[in-house]
Amino acid sequence: MSDHDVVVVGGGAAGLRAALAIVQAQPQLSVAVVSKVYPMRSHTVSAEGGAAAAIAGDDSLDEHAYDTVSGSDWLCDQDAVEAFVEEAPRELLQLEHWGCPWSRQPDGEVAVRAFGGMKKMRTWFAADKTGFHLLHTLFQTSLRYPQIVRYDEWFATTLLRDENRVRGVVGIELATGRIEAVTGRAVVLCTGGCGRVFPFTTNGNIKTGDGMALAYRAGAPLKDMEFVQYHPTGLPFTGILITEAARAEGGWLLNKDGYRYLQDYDLGTPSPEPVLRSMELGPRDRLSQAFVHEQEKGNTVDTPYGPVVYLDLRHLGEKVIDAKLPFVRELCRAYERIDPVHELVPVRPVQHYMMGGVHTDIDGATGLAGLYAAGEVACVSINGANRLGSNSLPECLVFGRRAGIAAAEYAVAHKGAAPVVEAQVADERRRLEHDLLARRNGRERIADVRTDMQHTMEGSVGIFRDTESLVEGTEKLQELRERFDKATLEDTSRTFNTELVAALELGFMLDVAETMVASALRREESRGAHQRTDFPRRDDTRFLAHSLVSRVPSGAPQVEYLPVTITRWPPGERVYGR
Ligand code: FUM
Repeated sequence: MSDHDVVVVGGGAAGLRAALAIVQAQPQLSVAVVSKVYPMRSHTVSAEGGAAAAIAGDDSLDEHAYDTVSGSDWLCDQDAVEAFVEEAPRELLQLEHWGCPWSRQPDGEVAVRAFGGMKKMRTWFAADKTGFHLLHTLFQTSLRYPQIVRYDEWFATTLLRDENRVRGVVGIELATGRIEAVTGRAVVLCTGGCGRVFPFTTNGNIKTGDGMALAYRAGAPLKDMEFVQYHPTGLPFTGILITEAARAEGGWLLNKDGYRYLQDYDLGTPSPEPVLRSMELGPRDRLSQAFVHEQEKGNTVDTPYGPVVYLDLRHLGEKVIDAKLPFVRELCRAYERIDPVHELVPVRPVQHYMMGGVHTDIDGATGLAGLYAAGEVACVSINGANRLGSNSLPECLVFGRRAGIAAAEYAVAHKGAAPVVEAQVADERRRLEHDLLARRNGRERIADVRTDMQHTMEGSVGIFRDTESLVEGTEKLQELRERFDKATLEDTSRTFNTELVAALELGFMLDVAETMVASALRREESRGAHQRTDFPRRDDTRFLAHSLVSRVPSGAPQVEYLPVTITRWPPGERVYGR
């Protein structure tokens, strides 16, 4: 057993920012960073387009806040949004001081680009590899602090409790199969989202909802789990993201006839004011929904990997593409064998982000003493029913820092005897060993159950849902859980047993999937990314509220509601350009 003051689970942007905040606020504290992968392989690395923070002369914090609130279809908490927009510029400047190579204008000022649903140019970027540079900056900065002790390639399987306080995790060291506790006075979950619950996603294989399930199993409720973001432009087959920056730089979306079809859709009430650019820079929920309608009209192109439309970048020219979108060109060449300088890029909507997550307050505190969460795993909530592109990297920074500071204060206030958790560690060891042995005689393959779960989720809580799809999803998930109990593990080795990891991840995903379907079934309205064809209107009377889903003793999800915090912007219409 290794004992620290704070245990951070996850080594991406939120996790590293939390770890840095802890050692800067309380240099005497020791911080464990327990990560399923080497930190530079965290999913942050694949973020492309940029990070939003108001700095340009004609922009303001209020405008960033308003765009975020209206983008969220008024389901965010406005106190959290106000803190977010105020702290985001400071965080991006801090990154600059730590060495992040933000792209520049010719006069040396930080360059900003437009982004979907944002009415001002406020997205900072490092070409189209923003996540890579941001993560590198945080990682190299973390190396300066000997108080930060890394547990790379350790998979956290359960949270430990002592006197009703969360006191660490049990993890498997993947290289050896060793099962050990990593304890602390506080735990910060920063494990990212759960995109792998779906079959077609921009998310890396590691994004299996681990932190959400760890918290949920320990008794912390999950919030707004019905809100699933589809990004309008993923490459068919791989789901690799083609960044919104491609449209911000001037790219067009064309249907099979070469027509900019978005002009035919209601992307929001037309703005009375002149706006940046319109159509292709509408909000993601509306663009993804428009694709489905275009498909229904027969205006998409069938491919072996599903229907697509085209992203046209040809008119931008090679110079702009190489300067601003080099990664887009690289990805198109490597994965589609096409060159966007000369050819159209086939794209289709792809699951990208979870607006929902572990319910936290503005400082990352969950309902469980000693447990904090930040980044995509958490729901603060600044994203409500629909996140605006480029708000998530600064969210990781702002709320990673806040959660880190709060956890550090909590750890100092509760410094004392080492936690008493041996019995729980022994139980977890027994559970994992038993899984490894008992599953030898199973009949189902993990991969088959996982694939069926993914297709169930796409059919049940995809871009459009209705009662029938959700009831069917609920029933199928029950069957999948029964099949999962009979799933076999052929690999009984200790060293990098990826089959065992896949089984544990699938268990986490099934839990998270159930919460998504249950929350979506209860919300009888359409708002943002939650579109019920049987309840097509937003219903502020009944549903201007967060869903909170908890696990009852039977293991089933139970949904309640929590009021939304409104400070300055009463519910209104979403207004965008044409
Ligand atoms: O399109 C993108 O670059 C995605 C950005 C984001 O999800 O924030």
